[in-house]
Amino acid sequence: MPTRKTPETLRSHRWFGRDELRSFGHRSRAKQAGFDAPDYAGKPVIAILNTWSDLNSCHMHLKLTADAVKRGVLQAGGWPLEVPVMSAGEMYTKPTSMFHRNFLAMETEEMLRANPIDGAVLLGGCDKSTPGLLMGAFTMNIPVIYMPCGPMMKGNWHGETLGSGSDVWKYWDEKRAGNLSWESWCEIEDGIARSPGHCMTMGTASTMTALAEVLGFCIPGASSIPAVDSAHTRIAAAAGRQIVENVWADLKPSDIITDKSFDNGIAVDMALGGSTNAIVHLVAMAGRAGIRLPLERFDDISKRTPLLANLRPAGKYLMEDFYLAGGIRALLNGMRALLHCDQLTITGKTLGENIDGAEIFNEDVIRTPDRALAPDGGTAVLRGNLAPNGAVIKHAAASKELLTHTGPALVFENYAELKAKIDDPDLPVTKDSVIVLKNAGPVGAPGMPEWGQLPIPKKLLKEGVRDMVRLSDCRMSGTSYGACALHIAPEAAVGGPLALVKTGDLVELDVPNRKLNLKVSDDELAKRRAAWKPAPPRYPRGYAKLYVEHVTQADEGADFDFLQYGPPIPEPDIF
Ligand code: FES
Repeated sequence: MPTRKTPETLRSHRWFGRDELRSFGHRSRAKQAGFDAPDYAGKPVIAILNTWSDLNSCHMHLKLTADAVKRGVLQAGGWPLEVPVMSAGEMYTKPTSMFHRNFLAMETEEMLRANPIDGAVLLGGCDKSTPGLLMGAFTMNIPVIYMPCGPMMKGNWHGETLGSGSDVWKYWDEKRAGNLSWESWCEIEDGIARSPGHCMTMGTASTMTALAEVLGFCIPGASSIPAVDSAHTRIAAAAGRQIVENVWADLKPSDIITDKSFDNGIAVDMALGGSTNAIVHLVAMAGRAGIRLPLERFDDISKRTPLLANLRPAGKYLMEDFYLAGGIRALLNGMRALLHCDQLTITGKTLGENIDGAEIFNEDVIRTPDRALAPDGGTAVLRGNLAPNGAVIKHAAASKELLTHTGPALVFENYAELKAKIDDPDLPVTKDSVIVLKNAGPVGAPGMPEWGQLPIPKKLLKEGVRDMVRLSDCRMSGTSYGACALHIAPEAAVGGPLALVKTGDLVELDVPNRKLNLKVSDDELAKRRAAWKPAPPRYPRGYAKLYVEHVTQADEGADFDFLQYGPPIPEPDIF
């Protein structure tokens, strides 16, 4: 364990504790804000990085959560300071909040580095906020605790339970097929998001907050607690108390993160039937800690990890049910034989100690390995001449008969073309076609949006078709479902084989054998490659220019090449 800190060895002492001109300035400005020596002298300065925003309805309660964290910090003898950072809200941000995940990671790192901060509690939950905050914190490597915003309440329509995302896609298809009235559609709109909190299916938000806890960065149980449950507030105060202790103990991310902790994260992702997005985020988060996670590691762990959480979109229930069934601690305790329970966490205890005694209260919601929903995990990694660097499919949420399928490609060069043509009654498509979307990857879109649950053509919806094989270099929402092979790398925009596919080419998807192939001869592909030209750059300036010039491919985490691996940036000089 690291040496305990003293008031003189706190990072913030360099700002406030010295007999220097600059320290005079820092203390006088603390007094300008109404603080005095009893507030700050010799105390750990705890930043509460708050992703609250009026632009992010998932996080609208985080001001109250921050107040509870402050209460805990004060109880433990720290000095809490609330710091707003980018919200990266999923719903309004275009082309995708993924475009801003790396921006949030940079902001987190720089806010922590540039200021007199000894430790931080990170408030997030809506999809990209979790990896964004943790990526920045891992690079900065000062003590941090992640405080998830918690899932929202279950949706309701005429007594029927509605799940975020999943039921939107389902009823949108029914509406397009002519089976749902405008009035019913509006009632669903009224009932599907009933409280603060992140999406309450096992989408990206629920997956990533659970994985933040499994990696060791949450107060035990925090990730499963609904946003509006009073336990959320109590846990927030506990996070405030714990972070002060962790600053004194100098318990940093580098003391917690290991290869084994990431293996735990991957195993739990598979047991949860978690979002495919978790793969790209875990690879990026590991990269910030100097750990390389090849896609095969996900596939290997998936093959030996049963599906245990009966949660939508792969299963039946929602996060509120999961919490009442015992939550993440109960799931972990039930699968502890599959985990490295000796891994250290922010409690100063091991993962195994954190989950000791956790009980399952509803065995239909949380299964044990002997009563698993499926013998292997929910996500598979595919390779082949169409995806030499990999692709992923959430086969747990796909139609089983499509997992081995060969069919003719129907190609769209970009999303605008797909939107314009997909409902054309003359579209040359059958239920056996393979819908292909190009130029939707990290560089092509840019930002690799969640367009991957490509719409079923209206003429097929009317015939009763509800799933087809679909391919793209984009992602899909964790709340989505269907036989969608995504994250194809390299992407079309940088000249990956996806760029060479033409309508009518035969595509082979073989999930049991982990294959994704284009049945076109090598000679023909070589001719097409010789004729291929990259699109001219769309972004002459700004963040988008930085993004497309430096973003890595999906299999590398879609982080910026200049932020992965490598040594940390030195502490700032204070002259
Ligand atoms: Fe925020 Fe889904 S929109 S988590």
